[in-house]
Amino acid sequence: MSDFDVEALVAAARGARERAIAPYSGFQVGAALLTSEGRVVTGCNVENATYGLTVCAERVALLKALSEGLREFRALAIVADTERPTPPCGACRQLLWEYGGDVLVVLANLSRVISRHQLADLLPLPFDGRLVPPPGGRRS
Ligand code: THU
Repeated sequence: MSDFDVEALVAAARGARERAIAPYSGFQVGAALLTSEGRVVTGCNVENATYGLTVCAERVALLKALSEGLREFRALAIVADTERPTPPCGACRQLLWEYGGDVLVVLANLSRVISRHQLADLLPLPFDGRLVPPPGGRRS
C-alpha cells in the first residue's frame, strides 16, 4: 500500500513514454517522479546519433525536477512496453540516490504494475557524499 495514487503516477509515465525520442533503439521509456509535495515531473528517453549521448527517461525526469527547484522525492514510476520490468540503469540509480534517496521505484508496462522496489535495494553499498573526504582533510 502507498499513500499516493500509484496508478496515476504510472499513467503519467505511460504518457511521457509516448514522447520518447528513440529512433535508434526503438525502445521507448517513460518515467514519472513524484515530489514530496505531490507534484509529478515526467521524462522520456532522448537518443542521439552518437548513441553515447542518449539520456534515459529517469534522468530526464530527475534533471527537469532539480532544475525547477524541486529537491525532495518520494517515488519514481518507469514504464516500457515489455512483459519484464525495465529497471533503472546504474548511472540513473546513482543520480537518483544522490538527489532522491531511498525512493520507491515502481516498474510497470502499458497494462500493469509489475514490481515495486526501494532504491536502496537496487543500489546496495552506494557511494555518496557522506564518503567524500572534506577538502584538505581526511576522514577515516
Ligand atoms: N532507457 C531508459 O530510458 N531507461 C531505462 O531504465 C533503460 C534504458 C533507454 C535508453 C535508450 O534510449 C533505450 O532505453 C535503450 O537502451
